[in-house]
Amino acid sequence: MNKISIVGAGRVGETTAQILAEKELCKEVMLLDVRKDAPQGVALDITQAAPLFDFDTRVSGSNDNAAMAGSDMVIVTAGLPRKPGMSRSDVLEANLAIMDSIIDDILRYAADAMVLVVSNPVDVLTYRVWQRTGFDRKRVFGQAGVLDASRMAAFIAMESGFSLHDITTIVLGGHGDSMVPLPRFCTVNGIPISQFIEQDKIDAIIQRTRDGGAEILALRKISSAYDAPGASVAAMVDAVSHNRKRILPCVALLEGEYGEHDMAMGVPCVLDSSGVADIVSLPLNDAEQAGFAQSAAAVRRDIGRLPV
Ligand code: 2OP
Repeated sequence: MNKISIVGAGRVGETTAQILAEKELCKEVMLLDVRKDAPQGVALDITQAAPLFDFDTRVSGSNDNAAMAGSDMVIVTAGLPRKPGMSRSDVLEANLAIMDSIIDDILRYAADAMVLVVSNPVDVLTYRVWQRTGFDRKRVFGQAGVLDASRMAAFIAMESGFSLHDITTIVLGGHGDSMVPLPRFCTVNGIPISQFIEQDKIDAIIQRTRDGGAEILALRKISSAYDAPGASVAAMVDAVSHNRKRILPCVALLEGEYGEHDMAMGVPCVLDSSGVADIVSLPLNDAEQAGFAQSAAAVRRDIGRLPV
């Protein structure tokens, strides 16, 4: 990709920019933020690391969203983070207003770009981008499942002692308390984790995965997670920019997949240079399907709070 704009130069935006630049996933990163001087400062700091990390990606910052013009992708991280004790849904009203004004700017300045949503509640805000832009659903998607699956893999490695190189995990559903980690599809080099980890420990890993964001928030106190979220966004950008056809759990618009219509939530997606090239249907058993439906109901409730 040539140019990627990141709206929101907070911690997630900064970490994302830094990884995109270090991996040279595009030629130019434009950081945008309403806070005066903030995106310029972040961009300069990252630029000064370029000689040490040996990258040529140009990173700059602006307070004017017109600078997103010419972007191949716009990544939206702007918004209020939740505070300890809050759910992701609790920031919907505040972040919706921010998102709606960013959507207007995307339509005005970067109407050909893909849009990758990171701000919470991510399922609902991804739906909002699609609803208000009318873009093809291939080029509107959100980050959640890559992060949740990465957290689950880390917990499996901590419990089993096996290398993270061999652990694959999958987490579907909404990015909230009702997310659906799928231990049946989690393996150590193709071998089901149930061969190595007892059921009560797997149950504890599932719960810790669901609480993954809240656990970090409780420990950091003044900030939500940003290292793993930034790395997760970068993994998705890498799949798009290298046309890899990776299967990654992403927030995608559903038109009948998993029995859901006219809503967005986490499902396994094929990511390539066109964006979400396809959605993979997994053969879920009754309990998994029930978990997915419960998660869908929670996301749908929040989508129902959107003004027309
Ligand atoms: C997380 O799970 C903030 O939603 C983000 O850490």
